[in-house]
Amino acid sequence: MKAIVNVTPQWGIGSEGRLLVRIHADMRRFRMLTSHNTIIIGRKTLGTFPNGAPLPNRDNIILTRDPMFTAGNALVCHDLSELSRAVSDRDPDTVYVCGGEQIYRLLLPYCDSALVTLTYTDAEADRFFPNLNLMPNWIITDAGEKQVEEETAFRFLTYTNTEPTRL
Ligand SMILES: NC(=O)c1ccc[n+]([C@@H]2O[C@H](COP(=O)([O-])OP(=O)(O)OC[C@H]3O[C@@H](n4cnc5c(N)ncnc54)[C@H](OP(=O)(O)O)[C@@H]3O)[C@@H](O)[C@H]2O)c1
Repeated sequence: MKAIVNVTPQWGIGSEGRLLVRIHADMRRFRMLTSHNTIIIGRKTLGTFPNGAPLPNRDNIILTRDPMFTAGNALVCHDLSELSRAVSDRDPDTVYVCGGEQIYRLLLPYCDSALVTLTYTDAEADRFFPNLNLMPNWIITDAGEKQVEEETAFRFLTYTNTEPTRL
């Protein structure tokens, strides 16, 4: 399982229920990587998608504690053990943890890598991804060149978890 996230240098990921930045190249990459695969998202992040609907062309797994919650044909899981059963027969390389903060924090120990888009913006955040640079078991194994889109600089980084836990 991999986490995929766009962070600021302070590891901010969102504010007031929205993304902090929209970089087309990053969104294209997200679509390319996750299409025809599985994404895991929290109920609040689902609410940030167009019409609050699951993303097309991929299996959406939504985490909520609400036993009545439904969202189109998305699979709904209510705790870690239900999630574990839901992903047990899927190739871990095809399962992407896509946020938000609560879900990243919950599932990071089970991820073997994190695809981090570092965006050089000073946008203020109220939601954060854990700072992987402070976690000894997470190491940078690939660092892309700095790129610029509409005056915003960003780079793709891959972090690898040297001690992933089995979900
Ligand atoms: N920059 C990025 O790459 C990125 C990616 C995704 C999201 N975001 C941003 O992140 C923010 C949202 O993050 P968030 O932390 O507020 O919300 P979230 O993680 O998307 O969703 C939180 C919800 O998930 C459910 N949940 C949490 N733990 C659970 C558990 N153990 N079992 C079952 N369900 C559980 C709960 O739903 P119920 O309340 O229904 O029980 C909880 O309210 C937004 O600003 C969004 O734009 C950024």
